[in-house]
Amino acid sequence: MTKAKIAVIGAGLMGHGIAQVFALAGHDVTITDAHKPNLDTVKQRISVNLHDLGDDEQAVARVTPVAELADCVRDADFVVEAVLEDMPLKQKIFAEIEAHARPDAILASNTSVMPITEIMQGLKHRERALGTHWWNPPFLVPLVEVIGTQWTSPEAIDFTMKLHAEAGKTPAHVKKDVPGFIGNRLQHALWREAVSLVEHGICDAATVDAVIKASFGRRLAVLGPLENADLVGTDLSLAIHKTVLPAIDSRPGPSPYLEKLVKEGKFGFKSGEGFRKWSAEEQAALRKRVVEHLKKSRGT
Ligand SMILES: NC(=O)c1ccc[n+]([C@@H]2O[C@H](COP(=O)([O-])OP(=O)(O)OC[C@H]3O[C@@H](n4cnc5c(N)ncnc54)[C@H](O)[C@@H]3O)[C@@H](O)[C@H]2O)c1
Repeated sequence: MTKAKIAVIGAGLMGHGIAQVFALAGHDVTITDAHKPNLDTVKQRISVNLHDLGDDEQAVARVTPVAELADCVRDADFVVEAVLEDMPLKQKIFAEIEAHARPDAILASNTSVMPITEIMQGLKHRERALGTHWWNPPFLVPLVEVIGTQWTSPEAIDFTMKLHAEAGKTPAHVKKDVPGFIGNRLQHALWREAVSLVEHGICDAATVDAVIKASFGRRLAVLGPLENADLVGTDLSLAIHKTVLPAIDSRPGPSPYLEKLVKEGKFGFKSGEGFRKWSAEEQAALRKRVVEHLKKSRGT
């Protein structure tokens, strides 16, 4: 793919990382943010990341902060929105993007869970609109889910898949715009059972995490569940499901245990207690452990 012009709307946690990945891949990137301090610091934040990762620090020169959204998107081939998770805000931003972007520019939202169909429904050219769901931190987690709606053209999907693959990401095509896309559906199916085990007194929270990390968690990065099912045999998988599935949690809503934690102000790291108690040192150590692990597995 030749060099593309990328516009990023929102220079927060995700936006600055997305800009960094595209700049490192050789694309010219414009970025805007409604909050001036976030725009003023974006190049510095990208420089620190590049330095920390040992990546080409010159890449930051390809990132241009732009005060006005209209100027940011005007020449772009590909626009990705990473503003707050707020439906009316996203709809308003896309109307504004469409008013100023080229008619052939592809428009993407990085929403975590909101339906792409609802975000894009008011656009005139919905065939070029889609979702690109990155994972945090964008420069360390490879997956980008590319979500098409009923209106999205195959050309827009192909361009987006290629753009992200060539930027070193692992794009996955989500063929239907379903809540949670693929990754978060799988992730939260596991979280539901994790909470349920604690709620029903089968083990405590630390044990849930220890069991996963010491068993199938070890294999998950190299062995997906369906590869695993084939490996052990679909007949064995069927036998296991007949016994286990009726016993595991299938409630359609959040666990009352989780609701209670939130009601009691046990918000996790931000209040010092959630499923477990967390000192400032423990929080810092856990964050460090995750980043170090992701850095080590980069490129594998
Ligand atoms: N944080 C994650 O782990 C994660 C992962 C995947 C997807 N997402 C999604 O990415 C999006 C951004 O999340 P984030 O974590 O980067 O949030 P963030 O709060 O760090 O950044 C959002 C940025 O948008 C800016 N903004 C707000 N209104 C704006 C406007 N009208 N015009 C331009 N900029 C505006 C804010 O000033 C802020 O800098 C959300 O939709 C979120 O759900 C987040």
